[in-house]
Parts: sequence; structure tokens; C-alpha cells
Amino acid sequence: MHSPSELLEKIEQAINDIQYPSHPASLYEPISYIMSLGGKRIRPTMLLMAVDLFNGDIQQAIPAALAIETFHNFTLIHDDIMDNAPLRRGKQTVHEKWGDNTAILSGDVMMVEANKHLTRVEVAILKPALDTFNNTAQGVCEGQQLDMEFESRNDVSIDEYINMIRLKTAVLVGGAMKLGAIVSKASHEEADLIYQFGENLGIAFQLQDDILDVYGDPEKFGKQVGGDIISDKKTFLRLKLQELADANDLETLTMQQSPEINAEKIGKVTALYNQYEVKEQATLVMKEYLEKAFAALHLISVPEEQKRELILLANQLMNRES
Ligand code: IPE
Ligand code: IPE
Ligand code: MG
Ligand code: MG
Ligand code: MG
Repeated sequence: MHSPSELLEKIEQAINDIQYPSHPASLYEPISYIMSLGGKRIRPTMLLMAVDLFNGDIQQAIPAALAIETFHNFTLIHDDIMDNAPLRRGKQTVHEKWGDNTAILSGDVMMVEANKHLTRVEVAILKPALDTFNNTAQGVCEGQQLDMEFESRNDVSIDEYINMIRLKTAVLVGGAMKLGAIVSKASHEEADLIYQFGENLGIAFQLQDDILDVYGDPEKFGKQVGGDIISDKKTFLRLKLQELADANDLETLTMQQSPEINAEKIGKVTALYNQYEVKEQATLVMKEYLEKAFAALHLISVPEEQKRELILLANQLMNRES
């Protein structure tokens, strides 16, 4: 068994060792840029923790871990275009620095690079690995499309929201862990259970992300605080407020976005979130999904001791600041 920090070190090393072509520089520089900005590396770490859980070989799983982290970083570049986000990991977003067109194309190449990493897994597991990766990637696109469509809808239900974040965020956490199971040649049943652990944890993770988007410390968060409010994202906080608020307060939610009034909009909507205590509601639901994740983990037949680090990390993620 390895500690998460040992696994993280291996991941950072492997990312450092990646050699991208140098020409055209404007295509590859954004890739090195986003990949070197760090981030929590939570998906490759969880992938390798799944490998450990099923007594697999960490070294053999590195290509899959790189595929997942590269894919994740690609989704961030495109997500930041779609969300009009100025900041990522405390630095300028790729599209702000290089323009939308380069950001789109660098992202596209990252998807190819992710596939190239993945094809380096053992041939015997290549097909299930690719199937899992492709299903995951398709789910993320579906979720991202729903996320955007919801911006202009006012009748989104909490169930629709949960399904949207399951797709845009949770299937990747689940898929990463399932890849870890596949590399370790775990049974289908075990692979499915660790997927369920990851997916439910991913839903809890996105609920926390939505909370941080409003309540994060700007110094530590690394992204623009209030971005979801500006673009009318249908987060859990927003949907809960729509459910609870009186007509007068709901009027505030019809404020348009514009550079002149965005700060005022963030202030007013946040005040309503505080008034109706929607953060507390979101935290309750987050904990429900965390419990669902643990219930799936519990069903995996390996000694409980071997699950300790995963449980610890999952709990830490619910208390993170970025
Ligand atoms: C950001 O993911 C996108 C979401 C699904 C919320 P992370 O919060 O894992 O971002 P990094 O990789 O640590 O920067
Ligand atoms: C993340 O949703 C989903 C993907 C990146 C696929 P967000 O839009 O909430 O992620 P952040 O907050 O920008 O990291
Ligand atoms: Mg988004
Ligand atoms: Mg975003
Ligand atoms: Mg977010």
C-alpha cells in the first residue's frame, strides 16, 4: 500500500516526464502550461489508490493515470471557454492567455494525447480500458451540454441537476477508479463497486465545488468566486433557493449579467443564499452522497484496513478549500 502523497509524487514525476512536440509552439505551450499548474491530481491519485486496493501494480497503471489527468485538464480548458472563466488554479485561463481558437485546438490535441497514454496499458486489458475511457469521456460531454442548457432554464429539478453533475463530474471519478480496477484485473463486480464509490464521491465532490464557487476564499480557491452566480448556473444552491424564496426575493435572480453589475449580483444572490441557508442544505446532500460512496466501498471484499486511506481522502475532499 502507498500513501496518497507517495502516489501523488509518482504522478507528478510522470507528468514531468511527458515530452510534447515543440512545433507549433502555440499548440503545445498551453498544454504544458495547464498540466504544470498543478491542481489536486485527485483523479489519477484515486485511480492509483484503486490499484492499491486490488493489489495491482502501480507502475503498470501510470499510463492510465496520465490518460485520466490529461483528459481532465482538457475538459478544464474547454470548460473555461464555455464558462467564460478568467482564472484557473490561481492563474490566467488558457483561452484568456492564448485566445479561444488555440484553447479549442490545444484541448483537442490533449484528448488525442490522453488516448496515446491509454494505449500504453497492457494489451490484454486495452479493450475494457478504452471502453471505460470512452464511455466516461462521452458522459462528460453530455453533462457539459446539460450544464450549459440549464443556464437559460428556470424549471430545472434537483434530480436533473444531480444527473447533470453525475455526467459532467462524477463519471470521470468513477471511470478513473474503474480503470484502476481493470489494470489490477479485479472482478467485474469489484470494478463496478469501485465505480459506484467514485461516482457517488464525484457527486459529493461537485456539490462541494458549487459551495466553494460562492463561499471559497479568493486567495485559496484559484478560480473566480461567484462565477456560477454570474452565469446563472443551476447549482444546488440556486435550485434550493428557487424552491424556498418568496416572489420578491426571486426577482433578484432575474438580474442580467454585465461587467458593471456582476459584483452587485454576486452580493445580492449570496445574501439570499445566506438568508435561506441553502449552503447547509447542500452540505446535507453532499454528506448523503458521501455515505452512498462509503456503502459501495463497504461491499468490496478486501480487508477494511486497506480501505482506510480512501476513506480518509474522501473525507478530506469534503473539507477542501480549492
Ligand atoms: C475541477 O476539478 C472541475 C470539477 C469537476 C469541479 P478539480 O477541483 O479536481 O480541479 P484541479 O484539477 O484540482 O485543479
Ligand atoms: C466542472 O464543472 C465540469 C468539468 C470541467 C467537466 P465546473 O464548471 O463547475 O468546474 P470549475 O468550477 O470551472 O472547475
Ligand atoms: Mg462548467
Ligand atoms: Mg467551470
Ligand atoms: Mg465549479
